[in-house]
This record gives sequence, structure tokens and C-alpha cells, in this order.
Amino acid sequence: MIVLGIESSCDETGLALYDTEHGLLAHALHSQIAMHQEYGGVVPELASRDHIRRALPLLTEVLTKAKLDKHQIDAIAYTQGPGLAGALLVGASVACGLALALNKPVIGIHHLEGHLLSPLLASQPPQFPFIALLVSGGHTQLMRVDGVGQYKLLGETLDDAAGEAFDKSAKLLGLTYPGGPAISRLAEFGDPKAYKLPRPMLHSKDLNFSFSGLKTAVLTVVKNHNTDICEQDKANIARGFVDALVDVLVAKSMTALKEHGLKRLVIAGGVGANQQLRTALNAAAAKRRYQVFYPELEFCTDNGAMIAFAGAMRLQQNPSLATREYGFNVRPRWPLHELQT
Ligand code: KG4
Ligand code: ZN
Repeated sequence: MIVLGIESSCDETGLALYDTEHGLLAHALHSQIAMHQEYGGVVPELASRDHIRRALPLLTEVLTKAKLDKHQIDAIAYTQGPGLAGALLVGASVACGLALALNKPVIGIHHLEGHLLSPLLASQPPQFPFIALLVSGGHTQLMRVDGVGQYKLLGETLDDAAGEAFDKSAKLLGLTYPGGPAISRLAEFGDPKAYKLPRPMLHSKDLNFSFSGLKTAVLTVVKNHNTDICEQDKANIARGFVDALVDVLVAKSMTALKEHGLKRLVIAGGVGANQQLRTALNAAAAKRRYQVFYPELEFCTDNGAMIAFAGAMRLQQNPSLATREYGFNVRPRWPLHELQT
């Protein structure tokens, strides 16, 4: 079965073809980062318009790369939510319009399920069950994953997501959008002893997170500078921020593994691309003989491959999820636990 995946929930248009027999056949991505950069963040209306411009050329690109004709597609998976309503509507309408024209079924996919399953696209995928740390721009969650569609939420952020904390703190330091990669590059040059920032909820007895206080701590440090902050001091603050956030993510992940008697940890979502987080997780896991699995770097942030893959896994498990009802609805807010299995 060949599944076309379409991702358009935020600022990346991603298309991909996944074959249940031969794996990922092709994928293509257009990032809108350059377009949104001058506004310091994603402008939803511009995002939607750009998805419209990009979707069909990217479809041609993946079909050409995979040497396939569009009639060879068996089903179309698209991101149904959560995300920006207008952006989601573009992906949904392209998916449903195309499916109607080709007389193929469609399936709406939960964006976070795409992220959760993305490490399974790697050459050495983890086996179920595992603990997943989902760290993206909108979410920070720890889950227990027992199989496709079997997700149990163990803990989540009570306020800002990890990616959001990265982006907001980067903005406070005058760095460009998206802040995650920028602040982590800067942190490489920072002195880890210069600023000891708070580790929110590190010792709470649960697996929840809270990052808005950490962002406020960055704000306070920045405000306490009477003059312009020199580059070295910016790097020191960045280092203090990254170290604090990473410490909490690592500690809670280790606790989740211990509490559930599991040895495999999977990292998903854009913040999973962060090198400091990877280094710290690898070290903590090695000490305890746990294994950590990451998606390929290009599949950490939003992409079409994870949607095509999640669609293929879902349809293999339950073919009746495929529908030929082409009237679509998107779900900008959609908690993962409301996902039907
Ligand atoms: O998963 P994703 O592409 O989109 C959402 O579903 O939210 O994640 C985007 C988030 C942004 O907040 C971005 O700053 C962060 O992931 N991010 C990073 C890195 N690369 C992307 N954060 C820290 N370090 C990185 N290298
Ligand atoms: Zn995402």
C-alpha cells in the first residue's frame, strides 16, 4: 500500500510517499521560516497562502522522485490537527480534492501521533513498548506507547511548551525566529557557571513540566542589564537557559522510564533536534543502561514523512479508518487522548 502524506499544520509544507512494503519512497518539504522571520514568528494568514502555493509542486516533486504516477497512490493521509486552522484547511482540502479526483480513500492524522511514530522511520527503530518524550513548539508531554494508537499520557507542561520557551527566550535575547536552533548554537559558547537559572518542577512528585518561570528568569536577567548585553553574556544566559531546561527534561524522562520499568526512550518533536538535549539524554541513559531513539534529524521538525507513515500504520491496523467521505473538518485543538483507536 502506498500512502501519500500531507503536512501543513504550521509553517512547513511537507509531502511524502510511504510504501508499507518498501518504506519511505520520497519526501519533500518547503519551510516558511524565511518568510515569517521578519515578523518574529508565524503569521497564520501568510502560512495558509504559502501552503496553497507549495502543495501541488511538492506533490509533483515526490511523485517524480519516487517515479510514480499519481494513480498508484492507494490512500492519502493529511494532518487533521492540532495546528493553525487555516493552514490545516489547506492540507485537508488538497488531500480530499485529490482523493476525490483519484477515487482513493483519505485518513486524517493527529500531528502529534506523526511525531510520536517518527522514530520508527529510522534505520534502527525502537520496539514497543517505550516512553516517548514529545517536545515541540506547542507540546511537552511524556507518554507511554504500547503500540500504534496505544498512547497513555504520563505528564505534560502546565504552561509553556519546551519549544515555546526556546522561542520566547531567544526573542528576549534578540535572536531571530525560530529561536530553538539559534539559542542552542549560542549556548555552545556560554559559560555554564555564569547563570544558574531555576529548574521548574524538577522535584515535583509527578511527571509534569512548567517552563514559563524559566522564560521569566531569562527576562529578569536581561532586564537587570543596564547596558546592552555583550555577545559573551548573551551566550552565558543562553547556556544557563538550555542547561536548566535540559536538566528537567532529562530527569523527568529517566523517572518515567524507571516508574514504568521500561528501557527504551523515544524523542520526538522539533526540540528533539537539540544537540545539548541529545548529549545529556545519551549520558543519563547510558548510566542506567537505557536506550534512546531519535528520529532522523530531518524528521524531528514538521514533515510529510511522519504523516504518510502514521497514515500507513493506522490503515494497516484498521483499514476501516479510510474514508471516501470527502467533506472534511480540521481540529485546530485536538488532545491526543481523544484520538480514536
Ligand atoms: O515539531 P516542530 O517542528 O513544530 C511543532 O509541531 O511545534 O517544533 C518546532 C519547535 C520550535 O519551537 C523550534 O524552536 C524548536 O522546535 N526547535 C529547536 C531546535 N530545532 C527546532 N529547539 C531547540 N534546539 C533545536 N535545535
Ligand atoms: Zn510538529
